[in-house]
Formats: sequence, structure tokens, C-alpha cells
Amino acid sequence: MRSVALFGAIAALLALPEAFAVKSHDFKTCSQSGFCRRGRALAARAQEAQSSWKSPYSVDPTSISVSPENATAKAAVKSSLYPEIKFGLELRIHDDGVVRVLMDEVDGLRKRYDEAASWALVSEPTLSKGIRWAVGKKELRATFGKTNDIEIVLQYEPLLVRLRRGGEDQIVLNGRGLLHMEHFRTQTLKETVEEVASDENAEGQEVLQTENVRAWFEGDSEDDYWEEKFSSWTDSKPKGPESLSLDITFPNHGTVYGIPQHATNLSLPSTTGDSPSYSDPFRLYNADVFEYLASSPMSLYGSIPVMHAHSADSTVGIFNAVGSETWIDISYPSKKSTQTHWISESGIMDVFLLPGPTPEDIFAQYARLTGTTALPPHWSLGYHQCRWNYVSSDDVRTVQRRFDEEDMPVDVFWLDIEYAQDHKYFIWDHKTFPDPVEMTNDVAATGRKMVVIVDPHLKRTSDYPIYQEASDLDVLVKPKSGEGEYEGWCWSGSSSWIDHFNPASWDWWVSKFKTSQIDTGFSWTESTEDVHIWNDMNEPSIFNGPEITMPKDTIHYGGWEHRDVHNINGMLFHNNTAQAVRLRSEIPKRPFVLTRSFYAGSQRISAMWTGDNLGTWDHMAVGIKMVLANGIAGMAFAGSDVGGFFGNPEPEMLVRWYQVGIFSPFFRAHAHIDTKRREPFLLDEPYESIIRDLLRLRYTMLPIWYTAFRENSISGMPIVRPHYVMFPQDTAGFDIDDQFFIGSSGILVKPVTEKEKTEATVYLAEDQVYYDYFNQYAYRGASKGKYITVTAELHQIPVFIRGGSILPTRERPRRSSPLMKLDPFTLRVALSKTGTARGELYLDDGITYSHQQGELVWREFVAEKPKKKTVRISSRDLASQNPGKAVDGVVLAEYDPKNAFAKEIEEVRVEKIVVLGLNSKPSAVKLESGADLKWEFVPGVAASEKKEGTASVLTIKDPKVLITTDWAILIS
Ligand code: NOJ
Repeated sequence: MRSVALFGAIAALLALPEAFAVKSHDFKTCSQSGFCRRGRALAARAQEAQSSWKSPYSVDPTSISVSPENATAKAAVKSSLYPEIKFGLELRIHDDGVVRVLMDEVDGLRKRYDEAASWALVSEPTLSKGIRWAVGKKELRATFGKTNDIEIVLQYEPLLVRLRRGGEDQIVLNGRGLLHMEHFRTQTLKETVEEVASDENAEGQEVLQTENVRAWFEGDSEDDYWEEKFSSWTDSKPKGPESLSLDITFPNHGTVYGIPQHATNLSLPSTTGDSPSYSDPFRLYNADVFEYLASSPMSLYGSIPVMHAHSADSTVGIFNAVGSETWIDISYPSKKSTQTHWISESGIMDVFLLPGPTPEDIFAQYARLTGTTALPPHWSLGYHQCRWNYVSSDDVRTVQRRFDEEDMPVDVFWLDIEYAQDHKYFIWDHKTFPDPVEMTNDVAATGRKMVVIVDPHLKRTSDYPIYQEASDLDVLVKPKSGEGEYEGWCWSGSSSWIDHFNPASWDWWVSKFKTSQIDTGFSWTESTEDVHIWNDMNEPSIFNGPEITMPKDTIHYGGWEHRDVHNINGMLFHNNTAQAVRLRSEIPKRPFVLTRSFYAGSQRISAMWTGDNLGTWDHMAVGIKMVLANGIAGMAFAGSDVGGFFGNPEPEMLVRWYQVGIFSPFFRAHAHIDTKRREPFLLDEPYESIIRDLLRLRYTMLPIWYTAFRENSISGMPIVRPHYVMFPQDTAGFDIDDQFFIGSSGILVKPVTEKEKTEATVYLAEDQVYYDYFNQYAYRGASKGKYITVTAELHQIPVFIRGGSILPTRERPRRSSPLMKLDPFTLRVALSKTGTARGELYLDDGITYSHQQGELVWREFVAEKPKKKTVRISSRDLASQNPGKAVDGVVLAEYDPKNAFAKEIEEVRVEKIVVLGLNSKPSAVKLESGADLKWEFVPGVAASEKKEGTASVLTIKDPKVLITTDWAILIS
């Protein structure tokens, strides 16, 4: 294949081994990273010194100024080690109880990077009003919160910040005295100090003493302060040491979650020797890690510095807004408390303390800071067929035809890098793709879309207009000299990278995606509005760079080093791409952009996937955990490559992987260029039919997924929800990360991720009925939790409906999701043990932003027992009752149930209602308005019984009701 040949050539040029040269040892461990080593050494000294350890940082009480009006307090901070260096600390209390803690060096030799939060935050947070601060002799204190039960306490000496709730410490900063903000200094300082010290005078003695104290805290060597070598690279570190070490303790919380992306358990293992444990801290440094391990604290492609700390009676969280490389040690001194130690290479301290007290509150608090996932285009919840590469437009057409012939639904065909001539993205290789617009139109004829890759590396050649224009505009990242263009190697050979931090690049980038000719320069006329975008390699991945990325001393807009912004870099690329896709059409349409690299805030506009996983059972299993962890940190629209990127999965594995995929928010099959073709229509029986059924199952459930996306877009509640989010008080569920719920729908899934399994054990956390989705068997959980064992042959996937749920589905197989727009609905009413149920359905055009003008349908279905022997099932409009909460992006003042979208679907019927777990055969089923309905009843176990067995099933065949109108059915 051409690209492999090209890569071989690149590898030869770089004297790398043939093909892929990247291995884990290409990435630093903590001990190979100067500032991480320094941070860990500090922690080790503290541990050794035990109670004699004391943080040198203190607050000057005379400096405190408070502003009750806007809930801020400021104080001067100094370190006894460097009395001449000044620091400033600020506390800000937001109106939802979140506390922001900022600390920076004041009047330093240089400025620390302080813009990470401005990229992550959705807007400047609103501060609380009328906070009463008590300025004491030893501490500053403020009390706030809805029930006045939250306190923020700033202790002066040593400096310590506590967030308290209900009279107890919940989050403590610097409780272990590991706070250290390395101030900017000049390189000659140490020699000067030594010279002075060598004069045997009083001043010299004093300096020596100071040195000793400093050594006691900082260590006695300038460990990699001014230059750092790794493998063949040297990081020039012109600013010298500037790292930030901060311990954050969560007393009363014995489990922590979050800080994606790592291939690890959802409940984060220790990194400090408690068991189970990793030996290195978790690392956040966006990186293209070849053949990543299925269990490791190593960095991967994206970083979200968000952590939840959880216990049975409380959840708190932190968002540490830092954009530089960060390492996080985690230890569990007891079952009830967690210690963390965050070590970042540069940047100010900017930590948001989220007071909870429930997981739901944390999601809301974090969502108010960084936003939620905007409702994606509806089609993007369908099935995505990708591979590196579909090699020609004929290939694309053939694949599409085969899906249709085999009656397999699919919404999107993807093109990887080989569509682009010499990997010059946007520029079609006309030898293989002579007719890109016609090809896209052929795909779009059945409502389908294309996603085409646009990577960030620009081939440095004057015949590539994108590169040439960026170069002329002077918007490329600069080398460490600050002059000219940084050059590195990627798929396109010698390449440069747009500096998306530079505002001058923004409008220009938007203009590249216009599908009609613009006045000057290149625009993508060989594209249509049915083409959406995949942003890959945006960590950025640079084959000849240190750790396969950009050297830290390259220069971005504003003179910032890449070191300061590395983890944010990928987000700017995909955000600007998404803006461009949105703005290319006259009536803005929702963009779909998939990104590999991400940061806090990325959720607002893009989906992510977990990168180059391996076709192994371990990777299949850890992909689920990674998707859950991303959801914890707001990045809800997530999935893994179905089938595994590398390798040739055997049919059994592929089937199981599709079972995982159909229950991921983002569902795409993808494969490496060297793998055998594995589109589902190529499989033999029974595999092909099993996968066909799975694809169809995904499509029947699209209403459930879309409704979960709406909820996420408002509340930030994850789309796939782990146990601790659903049952925060159930300690037995805290570590469960191999089964999950879909939104608030009540669907519980436990994918099988082991070879030759025919059974699965599933945890039911509560005393409630759980119905097998496929055979209506009613299982009964227990109030203290219970494991059940179910059969899980290859064609079976354990899926349950939690008693008390009503599920809207569309059961007619179609070729793509847009073709389902006018299809009727089925409602599954899964009665709870008390005989009730509820569910929701959200619909809109799925393409434009008309939902933000109120063009939508949002319904609630309720089953209740108005009388002992009557069940009443009804549908009512939720949007009229809560217009302000109907959609993301705007607050609707009112809602018109007769809006244009509702009218378009006004004839859409409910074609079937299935009621599970009724007590006995009804004597009548009728519309409340009078008419009798046709029904069938198969006796079985009632929801109210403690017993397990196949549930009773009432099927109302054509209930003669519509999806958009209010109605009620009486079963008596
Ligand atoms: C790396 C991506 O992770 C992978 O999905 C893609 O196929 C290759 N780059 C080629 O573009």
C-alpha cells in the first residue's frame, strides 16, 4: 500500500525501524521527567519527615482583602524558603457553591501560563453574592450554599484550603504540605549563592543555612532545571523550573474516578504501593501511544483533569484547569479517604472545588463550568463504517451496496488519509477518487453521510494551498527561536502545524470548509454539506518529535511555549473545525467532528474515540471502562474502534465487539490498513446474521439514545452511567465498571468481553424487578444487592429493563436512520414492583438548530395505578411544562406543541404498547376517551411478586394513539 511505503520511506529517513517504531519505551516514566521526579521526591521527603514536615507556604494575614459583593477573597502568600518571592492567592465562590482557588507568582521574572481555564470554561462563572467572610487571626472562613452548610476555610500558616460540608472536611489543599510553586529564577542564581556562601562571613553562613532549609524541602540538586534530555531529544527549557506540585486530599471519600484518558479501571487504582497499584502516577500528556497497554497509568490521546471523589454519603469533585503535562499520584490511606498529588510542569494554580454532594450535583457543577455535549446530529448516533482505507469512490459505492444487499443499516461511510493526494488533506487523489461530489451524493441518496479525515499536519510544499496560505498568513507554530516555521514529520512527510491559538487562523480555517468558491484562496468546493470531519493526530502526533509529539520549547501565539498548552492544543483544532463545518452552510447545521485528542470543554462540540486499540479481549473490556471514565469527565459522546484497530479478530470476538459497540454512545467499526477486510457482510453464518440483528437493535433503540443525549446536553449526566452514578449509596457497586445504564432510560447492559463465554453474572443493586429485554424474564434484585447469572451464548447479550421504566423504540428495519423519521413507535412499559413506570422521548429534526427555537417534541409516558385494579398509561407533553429545560444552548421561554417539527411528525403513531409484569389478565383495555382496544395477554410473573420467572406480557396491538399528542389508556 502506498501509505505504508511512504511511512517506510519516512522511517528510513529518520533511521527508525521499519513501519511503526513507536513503543511504550518512547514515553517517559515519572523518573524520566524532571519535574515529576522533583514532585515525587518532595512527597518522599515529606513522608520521611512525617510530623516534622511543614509546608513553607503561608498567608500574610495583613494582606487579606475580601469582597462580599462578588464573593472573592485575596491574600498575599509567601514561602519561607524564598522570602523575596511573592505569590498571590484568590478564592472565588460561584453562585452554585463551586469554589475556585487561584494562585500565581506576583511580579515574577516571567509570567506563568494562566489561560487554560479560559479555553475550558464555557463562560466566566457567575459569582455568589453577599457572602459573609469571617477574617480571623488564624484563618479566613466563609459559609455558603443553599442550606448554608458549605464552608471554605483558608488557614494562614501553613497555607491550607479546606472545603467543608456538614461540618466535615471534604476537600483539602496542601494538607500534606506538598504545595510547591517553583518560582521563575535566573540560571546563575545557584552559582552566585555558592560564591557568596564561600565567603566565610555572616552573610555566607546565613545563605548556607537558607540553602539547607531549601534542600530539606526542594532537594539539594537542581534536578533538570534548565535542560532535559530524553532519548535523543533535548528540551531547552529557557524558562527554567516552573512546576507546580499540589496535594489534594479527600477525607471521607474512599474512591476516586475520572482524569481520563487512561486504559484502566473506572475506580482508579492506587499509584503508590497500596494494592492494587501502578508504580507510576497517572499521566496527563496527550500522546499517540502505539499499541497502548490495556491496563496502565500512561498517558493517552486526551486529558481531562477532572476527578470525582466518592463515598456512600457524599461525592465531591475537582477540576484542575492546567494545560501542561501533569502527573497524579493516588493513594488510599484508609478505605475511607483518598490522597492525591498533582504535579504539573507549568501554569498557575487554578483549581475548582465542586462541593457535590451527589454525583448528579457534580455533573451539574462541572457542566456549568465547561458546558455539555451539544445535541449532535441524529444520524451520528447510527452505525459508522470506517477502515483505513476505502481506497476509491467505487470501493465506497460497493461497500454501500453490500450493506443494502444484506439489509444492514448504516449511516456513515468514512475515509481515512488515503483519499488525500500525498496526504494533503482536502485535496482528493483523483486517480482513485475522481468524483468525490458524485460519490458523496450517491451515499447521501439514502440519507447517509460521509466523514472524511482532516489531520493537523500540513505538507510543506508550495503546491499545497492550505500550507501555503497558512504560511503566508503567518499562523504556523514556530520553532524555539520564535522565528519561522516549526517543521516535523508526519504522514505527509515534512510538515508544519497551524497554531490554532492564533486568532488570525480562525476565520481563515472556517473559510477552507466552504463548499463554494470564496473570493481568495482555497475552499473545499469538492465537498458537500453531507461531508463531516474526522480530526486525528491532533495531540499533535509528530513521528520524529520527543514522545511522538511537538517539542515543548516550540512557540505558540502570545509567546507561550508548547509546554504550557500541550494538552489544550488538540481541542482548539477540533473546535475550530467544528465551527467551520457549522458555518459552511447558510442555515447552520449541527457539525459532526470526531477527535482523537481532547481537553476539558471538548465535549461541547465533538465526539471522541479511544484511538488505536488492539483486537484483543482485554482491549474490548477496557474500552468500556474508558468510555465510562470519559463520561465522568463530561466527554460523553465516546466509543472505541469496534473490532479493534490492530489485528484480525476472529468472528466470535467481532460479534462480541459489535455487542459492545451498539451500546456505546459513538458506534464505529474501524481497522488498520494492514488488517483483513471485516465489514459485517463479509462474515459467514451465523455471525453475519447476529451482527445484522445487533445493528438493527441499535437502530430500534435510537430514540432511547437521542433522549439520553438530550438529557446530557442539559444536565451533563453521562449517557452511559456506571453504578456509582445510579446508586451512589451502594458501596458494592463502586468498583463495577463492566455493566452500565443508558441515560435515565432504565436499560442495563452487561456486555460479554471474554472468549467462549456462555453465561454472564450481572449485579442488581436494588430490590426491584429487572426484565430481560429479549425474553421478558423477570429477575428480582435485593436491597443489599444481588448477583444473577444469565445465559449469554454468542447471539445473546445481557440487557435488562429496570422495573419502572417506559422505553420508546422504533422497530422497523431501515437502511439508515433518516429513513426512520416517520416510523411508528413501540412503547415497552416495564412495571416496577409497585406497578408504576415512567419514561421520556425527545425528538427534533436532528440536523439544524431549529430545536433551539422550540421545534421539538419532548414527551413523558407514565404508568400509574389510579385504582387498585387499574393501570393507567398516559402520554403528556413535557416541553410545555419545562420549556426552559427542553434543549441545550438556549432557554426557551415558552413552547408551542404545534411547532413546525411537531407538525411534520403529527401522524406518527404508537403502533404497539407492551406492558410487562401486570398482576393479572385485564378484563378491559380501552382509551380513556372510551374506545376499546385490541390486546393479547400472556400470563406470567407479576412485577409485584417476589418470585422470578417470565413476566406476564400484555400487548396492545394498535392503541390508536399518536406520539405527539396527549392520551391515556386504562387497563382494568
Ligand atoms: C491513527 C488513528 O488513530 C487511526 O484511527 C487512523 O486510521 C490512522 N491514524 C490513519 O489515519
